[in-house]
Amino acid sequence: MKEKLQEVLAAAKADAALVHSLDQLEDFRIKYMGRKGALTAAMKLMGKLPKEERPAMGQVANEVRSAVEKLFNDKDAELKAEALQAKLESESIDVTMPAGELNCGTVHPLTKTLDEIVEIFVGMGFSVAEGPEVDTVYNNFDALNSPADHPSRSESDTFYIADNLLLRTQTSTVQVRTMKTMDPPIKVISPGRCFRKDEVDATHSPMFHQVEGIVVDKGITFTDLKGTLTAFVKALFGEGVKTKFRPHYFPFTEPSAEMDVSCFKCAGDGCKFCKHTGWIEILGCGLTHPHVYRECGIDSEVYSGFAFGMGLDRIAMLKYEIDDMRLLFENDKRFLEQF
Ligand code: DAH
Repeated sequence: MKEKLQEVLAAAKADAALVHSLDQLEDFRIKYMGRKGALTAAMKLMGKLPKEERPAMGQVANEVRSAVEKLFNDKDAELKAEALQAKLESESIDVTMPAGELNCGTVHPLTKTLDEIVEIFVGMGFSVAEGPEVDTVYNNFDALNSPADHPSRSESDTFYIADNLLLRTQTSTVQVRTMKTMDPPIKVISPGRCFRKDEVDATHSPMFHQVEGIVVDKGITFTDLKGTLTAFVKALFGEGVKTKFRPHYFPFTEPSAEMDVSCFKCAGDGCKFCKHTGWIEILGCGLTHPHVYRECGIDSEVYSGFAFGMGLDRIAMLKYEIDDMRLLFENDKRFLEQF
């Protein structure tokens, strides 16, 4: 039996030298260490030995088993180390390679314009409030003194979600929300998206942007409105621009006006931007109507104030000489990268 065991060990040594992969190592394990392997077969001879020879033979058998196991373990460690080394080499990163190009976005011209507008008003002590794009018919119309038969309430002008819910047609909704939740003095602007059933063309879009503003305090008059809005457009378009207030009608202000600025492209001489009039219409404004104050719980005997609303898209188009509104929403990178 001893010879048999030594044969097994010699064969195992020779075979181990030929193992070059984990698959081959598994074959080795089955061949020598498996249940039906060479060691087990040699051990079966033990039963045929006389009793007194068994302990010495058992010791030899154990030594041979340990030697075979060591062959297996050494080979296993060697192969795993090789595999790790190969993996490290194949996955190594060359830190000296030039970096890939970083694709960095640009600020959208609407956002740029809005940032400028917000900065100017914040500098004058205004804070910024936001309102939801889906609002109640009440906040969009009734509370703003627009009666039930006002044409802008019709389904052909406004997107209704339900009988009493709509996509807001103006940011003026935030006037109502602000006055109902804040106590005067109030100085707030509110930018945001608005929606109307307009056909898309170079100057119209069913989705557009406005910036609303309100001031409520004791003793506010039309001169405050004129001074604030004139300071605003001078900061936005240049010290040289002049303002002109034309009487107009809005349901939620009385008196109401539209404000024009002298053309900041041609300084009033007449060009394509001002349609050769020398003036450009910028916003609507007025002193807040007592009906709106009453609806919002503000005592119009004590407080007064003004409101204004401007089209952000139009201002961005004027500032950046963009002649088609669709460019603002098509998200063509070649266009947007210019700003
Ligand atoms: N909401 C008006 C519109 O969409 C713009 C406007 C005009 C807002 C006068 C005002 C205002 O706050 O006082 O046409």
